[in-house]
Amino acid sequence: RVLRERANMSFCIVVIFFAVFFVIVLTEIFLIDQSSRSRGRRAHSRSRPSYEDAHGEDYLVYQGVPEEGRAIFARPQYLRQNSISAFKPNANTSIPAKDGVWQTVAGTRYKFYVFSAYYDWRGSRMIRVMGATKTRGPDRVWCLLWYNLPNNTHTVTVNAKVKVIRENWNLKYSACFILCTLQGNLTVPHSVSIVSRSNVTPLNRMIVNHAYAGMKPTPTPPPNTIAVCVKPLHFTYNQSLQMLEFIELNSLLGMDHITFYNDSISSTTNCILNHYIREGRVAVLPWKLDMASQREIRTEGLFAALNDCLYRNMYKFSHVALIDMDEIVMPKYNDTIQQFMQWMSTRLNTKSTGSYSFQNAFFYLQWPDDVTLSDEPFESSLTTLRKTRRRAKLHPHKQRSKYICRPEFVIEAGNHFVWEFVPGHGTLNVPSDAAILNHYRVCEFGGDDCVKSASVIDRTAYRYKKRLVERVRAKWAELKTECFLPEVED
Ligand SMILES: *[C@@H]1O[C@H](CO)[C@@H](O)[C@H](O)[C@H]1NC(C)=O
Ligand SMILES: *[C@@H]1O[C@H](CO)[C@@H](O)[C@H](O)[C@H]1NC(C)=O
Ligand SMILES: *[C@@H]1O[C@H](CO)[C@@H](O)[C@H](O)[C@H]1NC(C)=O
Ligand SMILES: *[C@@H]1O[C@H](CO)[C@@H](O)[C@H](O)[C@H]1NC(C)=O
Ligand SMILES: *[C@@H]1O[C@H](CO)[C@@H](O)[C@H](O)[C@H]1NC(C)=O
Ligand SMILES: *[C@@H]1O[C@H](CO)[C@@H](O)[C@H](O)[C@H]1NC(C)=O
Repeated sequence: RVLRERANMSFCIVVIFFAVFFVIVLTEIFLIDQSSRSRGRRAHSRSRPSYEDAHGEDYLVYQGVPEEGRAIFARPQYLRQNSISAFKPNANTSIPAKDGVWQTVAGTRYKFYVFSAYYDWRGSRMIRVMGATKTRGPDRVWCLLWYNLPNNTHTVTVNAKVKVIRENWNLKYSACFILCTLQGNLTVPHSVSIVSRSNVTPLNRMIVNHAYAGMKPTPTPPPNTIAVCVKPLHFTYNQSLQMLEFIELNSLLGMDHITFYNDSISSTTNCILNHYIREGRVAVLPWKLDMASQREIRTEGLFAALNDCLYRNMYKFSHVALIDMDEIVMPKYNDTIQQFMQWMSTRLNTKSTGSYSFQNAFFYLQWPDDVTLSDEPFESSLTTLRKTRRRAKLHPHKQRSKYICRPEFVIEAGNHFVWEFVPGHGTLNVPSDAAILNHYRVCEFGGDDCVKSASVIDRTAYRYKKRLVERVRAKWAELKTECFLPEVED
């Protein structure tokens, strides 16, 4: 028996040896693949020195204070790796600085657009620009930092690093960050342009959002405030009742503000949104991105919108919820998300929590309406009240789940989970008996077969029934004439 045990043991050792060997080989292959890929990329950019050589002459660079009335001009040093220099902006190069609008990067081989810029001081100080460009092998670009001192507008140029946002679905174009590191004592510029070739004047200039007033060393957002971010509204979005339901129900849940991105909306939706903008409850940013949705870039470049929204609301709100128009974060017991998070903090240690993940629950629209609803036209029209049957089985976390995060702890936001946190922070997977994501839609794979899946009745949303119906009815009446809203019928 001893012998057999020994044989077994040596067999085990051999197996373990092979396992370890296999892991080593795998790691090796993976590492070699990675390093050769990055080497390949570097070689690629070195094989295109055309910017430095061919175009340098065309673009004079201002290199310092005029001495005895003579300005010193030189070839653009900033086009060289790791160098910092300045050029004198003139009337032709001084384009107005904007925020939150797609602008073009001139002279690139592939489409390259930029939307907004944020000062990010959390790691190495940098300007983080939100953009969209080629997923693989994006054009080489530089950051032109504009300093608006009272009598002396000057610029500094630094290298830009294009970091493609991880969720790109392998399409030609992706949302990306363009990172401009502020080395040494470089102060935060007023605005920034992303430039490519030296022989073209920048076609974009973005105001650098400081994200917080007064540049306090450790800014703290107002506690218990939540902003909602919604991916771009498109296809001439025109679901007035859904819009009112979404805004008012989120407001009942404790959400303080909603940011929308306007790809294309109907005049009715435009009117409704303008009303909420005037009330200060909603912000709408234009979203005219010249890339074909789904063919060239994923869903109107939604990852650029989500990350823009994350940075836009950082330090303004303590939390940000990234959800769609057909989704509602639904706490099981508490009235508001704030109360829910307060309660979670008594059950679990949420001090370092960077995001709360909520499991997805499909409420298929094909399932029949709730039988307990009255004939009141609004009560019988609002989706969250009509649809109370949901799939019994929830999706696991990270699959179709959505999250509410603390933006200052997040570096890169994804659709269903956070891709990158500031070190020391992570996700709290909210237990499904505490809160879930109610998701109202038709069968996800087309057809009607999904209604055969096991289901349960979930009337958690009825906690808000009375207040929601009242609010939506009042808003509808208020906006009826102004926005030409039709009668809501049972
Ligand atoms: C601006 O550009 C125009 C031609 O586009 C040129 O004639 C003019 O001299 C330029 N002005 C400055 C200040 O560079
Ligand atoms: C800036 O310009 C104004 C007038 O344009 C002048 O009065 C002031 O002295 C200047 N300040 C400096 C620091 O040069
Ligand atoms: C930044 O540092 C350099 C030398 O390291 C110095 O010449 C320059 O004046 C400094 N600039 C500011 C704005 O402090
Ligand atoms: C938008 O919906 C309203 C009804 O809510 C309808 O009257 C209007 O014609 C629609 N507009 C468009 C552009 O489809
Ligand atoms: C949405 O975009 C359209 C067209 O670009 C514009 O006319 C409209 O004013 C925008 N609406 C809002 C609320 O921003
Ligand atoms: C939230 O719900 C939990 C569970 O029912 C409850 O113990 C807690 O008191 C609630 N918090 C508030 C503020 O209502």
